[in-house]
Amino acid sequence: MKTIFVTGGCGFIGSNFVRLLSTSTDYRIVNFDKLTYAGNLENVADISRERMRFVQGDICDRELVERTLAEEQPWAVVNFAAESHVDRSILDSSPFLQTNIGGVQSLLEAARRVAVERFLHISTDEVYGDKLGKAPSNEDSSLAPSSPYSASKAAADLLCFSYRRTYGLPILITRSSNNYGPYQFPEKLIPLLLRNGLGDLDFPVYGDGLQIRDWIHVEDNCRALMAVMEKGQIGSIYNIGTSEERSNFAVVEAICGAIAAHKGVDLGQLTARIRYVTDRPGHDRRYALDTAKVRNELGWTARVEFSIGLQRTVDWYLSHAEWVARVTSGEYRKYYDSVYAQSWGQSS
Ligand code: NAD
Ligand code: TYD
Repeated sequence: MKTIFVTGGCGFIGSNFVRLLSTSTDYRIVNFDKLTYAGNLENVADISRERMRFVQGDICDRELVERTLAEEQPWAVVNFAAESHVDRSILDSSPFLQTNIGGVQSLLEAARRVAVERFLHISTDEVYGDKLGKAPSNEDSSLAPSSPYSASKAAADLLCFSYRRTYGLPILITRSSNNYGPYQFPEKLIPLLLRNGLGDLDFPVYGDGLQIRDWIHVEDNCRALMAVMEKGQIGSIYNIGTSEERSNFAVVEAICGAIAAHKGVDLGQLTARIRYVTDRPGHDRRYALDTAKVRNELGWTARVEFSIGLQRTVDWYLSHAEWVARVTSGEYRKYYDSVYAQSWGQSS
């Protein structure tokens, strides 16, 4: 039985990926996660110990990574572990450079010492930068990251390719658009709005709310990641997205509609809580992906239509109020105030 070494498997996409592996394959899983504020063992509590070994560790800890890889001799490494939130990278970029670049270097070094057959690194469409007025990015488009987060991800992608060329490491890279779905930490747009919807808080919209994103349900992304891991051409990049473009305002309106329907309250009561707040510095206006490669080469297509996926996500959050409360206890309040009450750490 093959072993898959997953890093960051207690975060949002990683936990959904581990669940997909455990329900639709017979791979053994090693879940290596530091359990930062974004990682939570509760996210994988339903996965049996026979299928998944959990190791608490930092990908920057080269000795522990090397020891675990040597013990497990995995067939594939799948690296989700990252500091993943743009807004936090604006407040403090240091942990982003440490984990997203230094941690990837440590993983690459450890992986080249064991005979892994696949090293799948999870990247993002944000490495292509702002696509306002430009053609959608294909896998050959130039990198033009705007935030410390996306710059750290772009640096890691380049590092991965250098290990492919220099040491022959079997690298694969995916660059997906914005994911949404269960277990997403309530700092990203959709779960943050849902958390605020559970209470009586406002719905903050940065700037004019006309920025455009391509939203993919996390289950669709995880199916694509599995296809890339198993059948992707070594040395290749695969963009993953739906190619549907939506403004943030349209997403906020859709969420208000879904919450109103779920709670049986008047839509106007919810839309009255939309607040335009100080824009994110350096905010990209538009992301747009050309996803022909993953569709044509691997036969993948997105299956979850946005309105259905959003309704399912709203239902999940509104019925997991305790999970939301638990993951947003602790330092969350301080973070929230830095962005929303003090406008990016500047007291008003
Ligand atoms: P997340 O923040 O929800 O989870 C990150 C996980 O990594 C957490 O479990 C955390 O504990 C763990 N982690 C962080 N630093 C670590 C370290 N030094 N060592 C070990 N574990 C560590 O992130 P996510 O949204 O699930 O994103 C997963 C990956 O997908 C990231 O690489 C991100 O850049 C990429 N991505 C995310 C999106 C999105 O919409 N969320 C879109 C495209 C790409
Ligand atoms: P986010 O979920 O942080 O993802 P990303 O920045 O990686 O695209 O944000 C999605 C969009 O929503 C982005 O344009 C920023 C915007 N946004 C708001 O308008 N208000 C918010 O409170 C948040 C968190 C995001």
